[in-house]
Amino acid sequence: MVDNIKWHSGEINKAAREELLGQQGMVLWFTGLSGSGKSTIAVEVEKELYRRGKACYRLDGDNLRFGLNKDLGFTAEDREENIRRIGEVAALFADAGLITLASFISPYKEGREAARQAAGVDNFKEIYVKADVETCAERDPKGLYDKAKKGEIENFTGISAPYEEPENPDLIVDTMSLSLEESVELVLELL
Ligand SMILES: Nc1ncnc2c1ncn2[C@@H]1O[C@H](COP(=O)(O)OP(=O)(O)OP(=O)(O)O)[C@@H](O)[C@H]1O
Ligand SMILES: [Mg+2]
Repeated sequence: MVDNIKWHSGEINKAAREELLGQQGMVLWFTGLSGSGKSTIAVEVEKELYRRGKACYRLDGDNLRFGLNKDLGFTAEDREENIRRIGEVAALFADAGLITLASFISPYKEGREAARQAAGVDNFKEIYVKADVETCAERDPKGLYDKAKKGEIENFTGISAPYEEPENPDLIVDTMSLSLEESVELVLELL
């Protein structure tokens, strides 16, 4: 099958689109436990970039599971496929010239690495939004830790499924010690 597929290049490339938009298309990949602050930070970063005239798009775990990934669950295999698709979508958005804010638990190193390769290493920033499981469980903004501890949710990252910490992230945002404003500022500095 793959033998019969050929990439068809256009004449307008990423660089041309970037010139038009006056920015570099890239992926800001937020990874961390549920409740660590990925979505909260991404929303604020998006607002600030928009205010500065930057074209952004936010991809968020729950949101994509309503549509593109609604056929997927939370087994290791489905999570891998979830992240694979999102990595590819994020790469397309970055190629379109957008600053793409992707917030997904993305617990496995391999999936995050695949997302980096899909976007191209120069277009990808891995941001580890760090808070320990006790802190996240205490915040429990969606009531998920409560359910997971009662055994009502299987394969819950940090409780009954692993989270592989990033070894060499481009940025660590420790939300246990930083305020939301400070966290947002760190991400903006990275850009
Ligand atoms: N420095 C901080 N940055 C971001 N959020 C913070 C910070 N300090 C405390 N919080 C709180 O932590 C919670 C983070 O929730 P949020 O929904 O953003 O997590 P998430 O990482 O997107 O989780 P999920 O993977 O379930 O989508 C919020 O209740 C937020 O108010
Ligand atoms: Mg979120």
